[in-house]
Amino acid sequence: MLLNAFEKRLVTGCLRRIVQRRLDATRLLKLGGPVDGGTVLEIGCGRGFGVEAALDIFGAKQVHAFDDDREMVGLAQRELTKRGLMGGAFAPRIWHGSVHQIQAPSGEYDAVFDYQVLHHVTDWRGALEEIARVMKPGATLYLVESLRAFVEHPLWGRWMNHPTEDRFTDIMLLEELNRQGFTVQAQRGWGKQLLWLVASRN
Ligand SMILES: C[S@@+](CC[C@H](N)C(=O)[O-])C[C@H]1O[C@@H](n2cnc3c(N)ncnc32)[C@H](O)[C@@H]1O
Repeated sequence: MLLNAFEKRLVTGCLRRIVQRRLDATRLLKLGGPVDGGTVLEIGCGRGFGVEAALDIFGAKQVHAFDDDREMVGLAQRELTKRGLMGGAFAPRIWHGSVHQIQAPSGEYDAVFDYQVLHHVTDWRGALEEIARVMKPGATLYLVESLRAFVEHPLWGRWMNHPTEDRFTDIMLLEELNRQGFTVQAQRGWGKQLLWLVASRN
């Protein structure tokens, strides 16, 4: 589901870059360690701050990323060009596409990053299956998500546009990851609202 104007402003603003690098990426790095040289995928890349973090915080060699919103794809390409990251043999590849049908062969990636995308997806279980498909055995999933209590919160929940049916709690997400053959390595929550998690694909 595409973002409303308020959330789009939030995730494309400079503050989002600071939060994503200093809080989300730093915490995921502590939980799961670096990627060190692999090819990684970011789903729902927004303005591209996660692509930059995959390269300079996690040490990925190459990053592929996509977003369902064409405007986001354009913003990410501009942002990464501005930061001098779009040149050379290992330049990031950014495309328009959906997590329901990832344009990549099975077993392609050493790691996948999900920064706040799955809770926007109606069939989040199907999305996880598709993510698992493109990961190598042993690859790492780095995930930051808003949980049901956040999406349904009477204050901040109503400012944003999310699917309302079948939103996941931390337990539901952990159970589904387990069912789909992931092993959770480490996690950290902010109450029942937000979850940072690292898991490996068996
Ligand atoms: C909350 S924003 C997060 C953006 C970025 N990952 C960040 O952390 O700043 C969610 C992003 O997921 C994208 N998105 C929503 N549904 C999607 C889908 N089915 N496939 C791919 N991207 C999707 C939206 O367009 C948006 O850019």
